[in-house]
Amino acid sequence: MEDFDLESASEDDLDKIQQIAEEGGLCHYPKPVLRWLIREKFIMAAKKGGRTIAYFSYLIFPWIKRAFLLQIGIKKEHRGKGLGSKLLTLLCQKMKRENGTKEIFAHTLKPRVVKLFQRQRWSVFARFFGVAVVQKAIK
Ligand SMILES: CC(C)(COP(=O)(O)OP(=O)(O)OC[C@H]1O[C@@H](n2cnc3c(N)ncnc32)[C@H](O)[C@@H]1OP(=O)(O)O)[C@@H](O)C(=O)NCCC(=O)NCCS
Repeated sequence: MEDFDLESASEDDLDKIQQIAEEGGLCHYPKPVLRWLIREKFIMAAKKGGRTIAYFSYLIFPWIKRAFLLQIGIKKEHRGKGLGSKLLTLLCQKMKRENGTKEIFAHTLKPRVVKLFQRQRWSVFARFFGVAVVQKAIK
C-alpha cells in the first residue's frame, strides 16, 4: 500500500475532485455542491507528494447516529493497490471517533464495487433498479 496523507479537502482540491469523479464514471457534482460539502468538512482528500490522488465525500446525520458515503474515487493509476479499502476503513474509524456513528450506508451501481464493500464487511441492505445499497454497523 502506498503512503498518503488524509486531510479535509479544501477549495484547492475542487478541480481535482471533479476530474477524479469524471475519470471514475461517478455522478457529476456541480462546484457549488462540492463547495458546500468542503465547507461542512464532508470531503476528505488523500494526498501524495502534495497531489490529490483520491477523495471520499459523505453526509452525517448525528441525531440518528448514521452517515452516508456519497462518493469514493481514486485516480486511475492508484487503483487496485488497496487504497480504496484503506480509505473505507479510515472513513468508518473517523465516523465512529468524531460523530459516534453507529451505522453507515453507501450505494453503487457497480458489481465490482459491491464486492469491494463486502470484502470490507459491509452488507447489501437493499437492491433496486440495479442500485445496491450497502450498509455497515460500526462497533
Ligand atoms: C472503486 C475504487 C474506489 C476502489 O479503490 P481501489 O483502491 O481500486 O480498491 P482496492 O485496491 O482496495 O481493491 C480493489 C477492488 O476494488 C474493486 N474495483 C472496482 N472498480 C475497480 C477499478 N476500476 N480498478 C480496480 N479495482 C476496482 C474491485 O473489487 C477490486 O478487487 P478485484 O481486483 O478483486 O476485482 C476505485 O477503483 C475507483 O475510484 N473507481 C472509480 C470510481 C468508483 O467506481 N467509485 C465507487 C463508486 S460507488
